Formats: sequence, C-alpha cells, structure tokens
Amino acid sequence: MTKLRLLRMLKGDVKYVLQEVIWQLLGLFAQIIIIGCVARVISETYFNRLDTKQLIIYVAVALFSVLAKNVFDRLYMDAAFAASNDVKRVLRNNIYNKLLRLGVCYKQIVSSAQLTQMMGEGVEQLEIYFGKYISQFVYAFCAPLTLFLVLQQYNLKVAVVLVASVPLIPIVIVIVMKIARKVLDKYFQVYYELADTFLEKLHGMTTLKIYGADEDAAEEMAEESEHFRKVTMKVLSLQLNSTIVMDLITYVGTALGIAVTLNEFLNNNMSLDQAIMFLLLAIEFFRPMRQLGSYYHMGMNGIKSGDMILEFTNLSEPQDGKIILREEPNNITIEDVSFAYEDEAVLKNISININEGQFISLVGLSGAGKSTIAKLICRRLRGYKGTIRVKGKNLKYIKEESLMSLMTYVSNNSYVFPGTIRENMLLGNEKASDKKLIGALKLMNLYDELEDRGGLDFELVEGGTNLSGGQRQRLVLARALLKNSPVYIFDEATNNIDMESEEIIMKVIRKLAKDMGKTIILITHRLANVRTSNEIFMLQEGQIIEHGSHKALLAMGGEYAKLYKAQRELENYGKGEA
Ligand SMILES: Nc1ncnc2c1ncn2[C@@H]1O[C@H](COP(=O)(O)OP(=O)(O)O)[C@@H](O)[C@H]1O
Ligand SMILES: [Mg+2]
Repeated sequence: MTKLRLLRMLKGDVKYVLQEVIWQLLGLFAQIIIIGCVARVISETYFNRLDTKQLIIYVAVALFSVLAKNVFDRLYMDAAFAASNDVKRVLRNNIYNKLLRLGVCYKQIVSSAQLTQMMGEGVEQLEIYFGKYISQFVYAFCAPLTLFLVLQQYNLKVAVVLVASVPLIPIVIVIVMKIARKVLDKYFQVYYELADTFLEKLHGMTTLKIYGADEDAAEEMAEESEHFRKVTMKVLSLQLNSTIVMDLITYVGTALGIAVTLNEFLNNNMSLDQAIMFLLLAIEFFRPMRQLGSYYHMGMNGIKSGDMILEFTNLSEPQDGKIILREEPNNITIEDVSFAYEDEAVLKNISININEGQFISLVGLSGAGKSTIAKLICRRLRGYKGTIRVKGKNLKYIKEESLMSLMTYVSNNSYVFPGTIRENMLLGNEKASDKKLIGALKLMNLYDELEDRGGLDFELVEGGTNLSGGQRQRLVLARALLKNSPVYIFDEATNNIDMESEEIIMKVIRKLAKDMGKTIILITHRLANVRTSNEIFMLQEGQIIEHGSHKALLAMGGEYAKLYKAQRELENYGKGEA
C-alpha cells in the first residue's frame, strides 16, 4: 500500500530505478563473458590446444568486457545518484507545497518538530530506499534468473540446484522481518522519545542550572539513553544474526553447487571449461540477494518514513477561498463567534465590530482568549462557530493572498531570518528602495543604532540574537510598516522589551491609527497603552465582560477600572523605588 502510493508520488524516479536494474544486468552479462573467456583459456591450455590467435581473441574479448563492465558500473552509480537527488527534490517539494496549501493555519495541524524530522531524516531515509533498495530488490530476482537462463544450456541440473537455493535468503529475510517489526517499532518509539527529551533539556539547560535541577535531568537522560542503548543492541544483534544466517545460506548454496558441478564433471556430463565457469559463477547467484539483505534495514526505515510523509501529504486541506477583496471599507465584524482548541470552549459568543480606521484594543488576563481572536481574524486558526466578515465578505471564502495583503499580524515572536537587515526588511515590501528602508528604520529610532554596524548590510544571526530584544522588535515593526497594509494586528508586540523600545513602538502604533488612517487591533496586558483607543474590549475566560472607551470603562468602575488602578499603583510604586 505505502509502497504503491509512494511510487505514484515518485513516478518520475521509476525510470532511474529501471536504468539501475538494466545497467546492473548488463554488468552481469559482461562478467559472464569475462568468466567464460577465462574458463575457455584455462581449459584449452590444460588440453594444450590453445594457439596464439585464439588466445589473442579471448584476451581481447575479456579486456573489452572488463571495460564495458566498468562503464556499466559507472552508469549504475549515476542512475542511483540521479534517483536519490530526484527523490529528495520531489519529496521536499511535496511537503513544502502541502504546507503552502495548508496555509497560515498549518501549525494547527503539524508541529515544527515533526516537520523538521520529515524534511530532514525522513527524506534521507527514503532517498536510500529509492536510490538503492528498490533497484536492488528487482535486480536480486533478475540476476539469478539471468544466470540460470545462460547456464542451463550447459547443464540443467547444476543450474537448477543453484537457482533453487537462492529463495532461501528472502525466506530468511521475511522471517526476520516478522520478528524485527516489533523490535523496530519499539526502537523508533524510544528513539523519538529520547530525541524529544534531549531537545527539551537542551533548551531548558540554563533554567535547569539556575534551579539546580541539572543533575536530576542528567540522571533522567542517562536512564533513557541506557534504555535506548539496550533497544539499539537488540536491533543490531538481530541484524547481525540475520546476516550470519544469510552468509551461511550463501556459502552452503555455493558449496552445494560446486559439489554437484564436480560430480557432473567426473561423470563426464560437463566439459572442463563449463565446469570452471559454473565454479566461478556459483556465488554470483547469491550475491545480489545477499546485498539486498544488507540494504534491508535501510529499506525498513525508508518505508516507515514514507508512511509518515504520506500521512502528512494526504491530510485534508482547507479549501482556499475565491473571493478577492476590493475597494470596500476595511470593516471587520465578528458575529457570535465561539471556538475550542480541544473540547473546552476558549471563546464564547464573541461579537466585535471594527470599522475602517478604528483603533480597538483587546485586554484581559493571560489566557482570556485575546490571541485566539487575533489568530481567527487572520485565519491562522480554523473551525470556529459563528461568522467573521472582512470588508463584508465571509472570512472563510476569502482568498488567502488577498487576506494577507489586507492585514499584518505582529506578535512578540515574529520571526527574523538569518541574513542582512535589508533582506529581512524587503520581506515587507520587495520593491522598497534603500531610502525607504532607512526611513522606516529611522521611524523606529533604529537606524542610528545600526549605522556603525553596517546599516542595511548588518548581518543577523539565527533568531536575530545579535540584536537586543527591543531592537529586534523595532526591526519587526519597521518591516511591518513597509508592508503598508490597511489593517494591523499587534499581539503583545511590546512584551518583554525595554521601556524605551516599548515607548517608540507605541508612539508609532498611535501614529498609524491617528495620522495614517490604519485600522488597528492592539492586544496588550498593559492598560496604560490602550487609553487612546476608540474602543476597548475586556475579556475574561473567553467572554467579553466590558467594552467601551477608556473613560467610560473607568467611570463604570468594573473589572477594567480595578485592573487599571492596580497596574498604575504598581508602576508608581516601581518609580518611587527608583
Ligand atoms: N494551541 C493551543 N492548544 C490548546 N489550547 C490553547 C492553544 N493556544 C491557547 N490555548 C488555550 O486557549 C486559551 C486562550 O489562549 P490565548 O488566546 O492565547 O489567551 P491570551 O492571548 O488572552 O493570553 C488559554 O486557556 C490557552 O491555554
Ligand atoms: Mg496571547
């Protein structure tokens, strides 16, 4: 099943696999001719019948065949290489395109760890499977049959004995496969678990050290590693044992062939050159199958990865909408929306009206559901109840590209890529001139800080960690500004950064709302930042408990007023300390 579906996905590779088999078979023919020549020369010399002219012909044919075999071997390698490359390209493309079709909500479906595993190791294991294993599988059946067809014309009995012993190897493989399956499943499970724990502990190393828990963690790791070692040993010993059995069959089968050959020769049923040929070719019956046996565990891993990749590429896809947004007012309406990640509803009957050019804020304690609302609006999450309309159109039916150009989502972990500042900023607008880029950086008070370090050519490392948190976030904002979309959603965009950066960012956000007519949705837990918004929505456990202007909410004296007072007291207290 898996194999057939994989083949369908990789049908372009079937031709390489066929080429591999053909080159290997041609190589085998060349080898048969070489051995035929050698056998003839030995026997003619033995009977003293060899003249110079004959010798020259045999040597010439043999040399030519050696050359041909080299060429065929080379062509086989090339085909295997092409197959591997193609497999990698096709699979990675398939996974990548699937991701694109899943759209911005892909995180709802697949974890980053799973993706990395699939794109990396998963693809590599299938590369071996397609590059080597499948062609070897076909060749291992064709080679003994070819040898049989060539040799049976000299002596049927020996040819039958040899060809009949070969299937013992695949029988052993099948038996091992039955036993191995359980052990291998266990192996993979333990392997993935260990990889997970290892990554977690590595990420949390500093924290573990601070809390003095690193020794416990090390002990736990050691325990898991030991468990993994034991399972690995089991797999290895299984493989070793099956190798021994396969070798045994190879040698016993070859020996049996040789014994029958000698018997036939002594009974005068075979000429000397024929007997030599059988003796030299006997082991070739077994070699391809034996080779297949050693590729076998790679093949097993390949099938497992294939299962995983197929499962992913076959996931049902949310259909992208067809509606392209036009020049209507940029209103967003959320009508009676409820949403649950798992069983429990995290949003309950939310209704919010946002008109073009409005600056609205979502506030509330952590876990209240603010980010969930933001993600629903830009369709990173699907599967809600109720209706969301953008520019009067049902969100579900809007084309993703059109939606993405309408709104920009900025969170406190927006990604910056390794590369220059310029490359990162051009993501916001690929046509922007250097002057424009610098203008945006200046607006964020960032250009002065970067000028001495290379300005637009300053190279960011992975995660942008060679900038301070505040600088990184101001860069993210500068990039967002370049996009110049009508709607901006800021989700805790000033979290965990220095006061100065926060002030610069908030100033720009207010400017976007006031002077540039943008529609702004601001999510923050710092109420000092939302005072100037047109309307504030206070969330609690997935419900809107209060809404109105800052003034109105303060006058109401409800939850918002309480939270605002508490925060102001805390901040004033902090200032008093300093
Ligand atoms: N990916 C997720 N899977 C399951 N539950 C989630 C997920 N993301 C958030 N939640 C839960 O949904 C609720 C609302 O989360 P969120 O919208 O992030 O809150 P806020 O942004 O207001 O802090 C929380 O109880 C949170 O635990
Ligand atoms: Mg949040």
